[in-house]
Amino acid sequence: MKIQFYHQKNQGNLPTELQNQIISSDKELMDFPWAAEHWQKIFKHFENYCLVLMLDADKLVGFILGSADPDNFHLLKIVVEKNYRRQGLAQKLFDFLIQWQQKEGKKNINLEVRNSNASAIHFYQKNQFLTLHTQAKFYSSGETALIMQRKLDK
Ligand SMILES: CC(C)(COP(=O)(O)OP(=O)(O)OC[C@H]1O[C@@H](n2cnc3c(N)ncnc32)[C@H](O)[C@@H]1OP(=O)(O)O)[C@@H](O)C(=O)NCCC(=O)NCCS
Repeated sequence: MKIQFYHQKNQGNLPTELQNQIISSDKELMDFPWAAEHWQKIFKHFENYCLVLMLDADKLVGFILGSADPDNFHLLKIVVEKNYRRQGLAQKLFDFLIQWQQKEGKKNINLEVRNSNASAIHFYQKNQFLTLHTQAKFYSSGETALIMQRKLDK
């Protein structure tokens, strides 16, 4: 299993094959996947995003996607293939992200999560995220979001 990461400095190098695997994983594994056009916009402006990938040989088995401003990392997606879950892979991806973003001097990791997504909420709580507040009808489905934050500075 190997971890690869992509950010501003090597954003031009995300192979099309990996882009396609990311779109397929999102479609297959997320309850509310992004439209292909949305993914194309992201890949077109990939310099604005950070990506951590987990590969088993050449097969994508998990990823974290987010965007960063000078102080914060905004986590947009964390996904692990079904057959690879509960083996600590999301934890490995997240530990890598934390070390990376701490080195970059970020103060917080911020995210929103659907209040029905118990496994993700459990994962975030285990990783010291606190719920700052909830926002009703945050998603187009009408669902409430938990707005969560993990502080990185000591
Ligand atoms: C959330 C997700 C990324 C976790 O991936 P994973 O590789 O299975 O997670 P890990 O094995 O690293 O789990 C680490 C910890 O998270 C928690 N956790 C993970 N999955 C859980 C579940 N289904 N139920 C409860 N807790 C869970 C546990 O505390 C776990 O530690 P433990 O196994 O020692 O109890 C995975 O379930 C997933 O891809 N879900 C669909 C995508 C999604 O909804 N992502 C979040 C919103 S973008």
